[in-house]
Amino acid sequence: MSTSPDRLDDLVESMTREEKFRLIRGTVLLEEGRATGYLPSIDRLDLPSLKMVDGPLGVRLDEATAFPASIALGASFDPALATEFGEAIGAETRAKGIDVLLAPGCNLIRVPQCGRNFEYYGEDPYHSGALVSATIEGIQSQGVGATVKHYVANNQEHDRTEVSAAVDSRPLRELYCRPFEAAVDADVGAVMAAYNRINGTYATEHEALLTDVLKDGFGFDGPVMSDWWAVNNGLSAARAGTDLEMPGVGVFELLPTQSERLTPLARLNDRWPDRIPGPEALINAIARRASASRGGFPNVSESKFAGELEDAIETGSFAEGELDAMVRRVLTLHTRVDRSKESDQIHPEEHDVLARTMATRGTVLLENDGVLPLTADTDLAVIGPNVTTAKIGGGGSSEVNPFNTVSPAAGIRNRASGSVTVAQGHPPIDDPSIFSIDIGSRFFGGTESADIRPAIDAARAADVAIVVVQDIATEGRDRQSLALPGDQNQLIQTIAANADRTVVVVQASGPVELPWIESVNATLCSWYPGQEAGSALGKVLFGDADPGGRLPVTFASEGTYPTGGQTSYPGVIGNENVPVAQYDEGVFIGYRWFDDRERSVQFPFGHGLSYAQFEYQSLSLGDGTPPESATVTVSNSADRSGREVIQLYVEPEAPAVDRPPRELAGFTSVEIPANSEHTCTIDLDPRAFAYYDDENGWTIDEGTATVAVARSSRNTQLRAETAIQADDSEDAEPR
Ligand code: BGC
Repeated sequence: MSTSPDRLDDLVESMTREEKFRLIRGTVLLEEGRATGYLPSIDRLDLPSLKMVDGPLGVRLDEATAFPASIALGASFDPALATEFGEAIGAETRAKGIDVLLAPGCNLIRVPQCGRNFEYYGEDPYHSGALVSATIEGIQSQGVGATVKHYVANNQEHDRTEVSAAVDSRPLRELYCRPFEAAVDADVGAVMAAYNRINGTYATEHEALLTDVLKDGFGFDGPVMSDWWAVNNGLSAARAGTDLEMPGVGVFELLPTQSERLTPLARLNDRWPDRIPGPEALINAIARRASASRGGFPNVSESKFAGELEDAIETGSFAEGELDAMVRRVLTLHTRVDRSKESDQIHPEEHDVLARTMATRGTVLLENDGVLPLTADTDLAVIGPNVTTAKIGGGGSSEVNPFNTVSPAAGIRNRASGSVTVAQGHPPIDDPSIFSIDIGSRFFGGTESADIRPAIDAARAADVAIVVVQDIATEGRDRQSLALPGDQNQLIQTIAANADRTVVVVQASGPVELPWIESVNATLCSWYPGQEAGSALGKVLFGDADPGGRLPVTFASEGTYPTGGQTSYPGVIGNENVPVAQYDEGVFIGYRWFDDRERSVQFPFGHGLSYAQFEYQSLSLGDGTPPESATVTVSNSADRSGREVIQLYVEPEAPAVDRPPRELAGFTSVEIPANSEHTCTIDLDPRAFAYYDDENGWTIDEGTATVAVARSSRNTQLRAETAIQADDSEDAEPR
């Protein structure tokens, strides 16, 4: 579609009111094909339809490449890899004839138990911003509109449709809004407004955040679309700046047309009538949830734009010009779509390779006494409740149905030349799915039993036991705790007590507690590694690839996070029966909190080991005050190549306001060949020298700061001091 602003104005001008309404709320897709959301075409005006599909880990439609979870991409600390990933999911979306991807997600990890942490990049706003913008550039390069979500302060799944984040403007601007600001800078097609409230007002009705900050402040010119059934009051939402209501119809209209979802369900219901509800029961269950309204499910009964907003325009209490502005924004999303980029390659082989590369690049080596990398002829016991299944992702709208998968057991078998004995040792851990219908009861814990003895025997006979464990996470619910579910901790302890050497592989959605870490020889965290889980693991274990990941989130014991108290998370019921989560920690989330309070952590933000050996040789800063860049030289003295993530932090000296002791200001992920040196210049984010002030906006005070080059937020290698000059010129606001 032509992107000229005049053409958009002409189009709006020539539309009837009924046509305009068709563009600001979704409807049921009646044509051939499916989508998560759908805007119909207006043939008279040659305006094509807009099909939208989830999601952030791969395309949720039929079969698609199941890439590692976003948190694994976050662990790569590599925006170039994020762009490659964006190009791949963009290409698969286009190949399926879909126009808009409902991805990426970039909420910051505030609550370590949040059920959707695996769909996000981490706990630092600069880091998430760099990755989200790179992903968006990749997606949109394929002629597909990207949708950044969920704006904003959607940091927990518990009560997600009701909870109010009680959060000040400073943390909103310094932390939670920043990845969205980066997405707007990357020209994102659409922004999805979250379910939750912010300071008492639903995100979809929050004029200050939608209109003042996002649109007028950041310069977003596309549509704000609601999360699915997130509009509570149509008129308030439209007035506040929500332009597009999705899915725009009640579930009763939507579901019966999704016969492909219901037919298999009916079949399962025939077979196990006691265990699987039929289609009717499902619809009723959803309706019951809707009326109960608390929890992770919205009120799915109807469209809110249909009634209230239509009436308001009719009576003149909502101006036609306002409606036109909403329509124009939706048309802007159309301009991101380029159907000439159509590709018939739904499953290019390179995407399997990319999924594998991303999985190795996201894997974090937490500890290693030298047992890794393994030599090829090591005799192995490969143990774990789900060791014969690839851990694709978590539950919810990000679920992907892959063409092929490689389980940990298969991947290790393919690579090893010694003996490999596989044993479960523990009943399988559930892989929850909100599409598994039996909402609620199957989520947390398997019921099968598994004999541990074959696992112990295998561990005793092997040179090294590899134990693969996992957590359970899904949209709509938070994890109950940071402990591994079931008796997996006990399994690890038992194997470690019986094996000569033990390596643990943790497949996790976010931080987990690792109480056995001192009893084992090495621990890897591979997050949710996707369809190539096993092949990537084989590569990392045997040293074909260096574990390239660093923690994008602090690992600590549960009660020590800033959200350790109930008022802070999950919140307590306040006025009018609204649950309120107090963001009392302000700008101190993640490592900012642990550093400020000098609390110990299990593994700090940015931590991760390599098989190579790096030494930091020099650090010099650019001439500016503050400097715009830092130049770092790192050498690798090992006889093998390795990947290092070079991290820069800014530490303000005697700041005028309370500020975190250090904040990430730049990073790069580099492969450094054996016995060689690498010099790179890394841009410094000017925001790291600034803080947000309600009156003056982003503010840089005169003073001094230290720029630290580090291997984690708690492992500084070199420091350099810099003078900072206050910038009070007209365009002072650092972007
Ligand atoms: C999720 C969104 C998703 C939408 C459509 C919602 O429940 O929060 O992330 O895009 O459903 O599936």
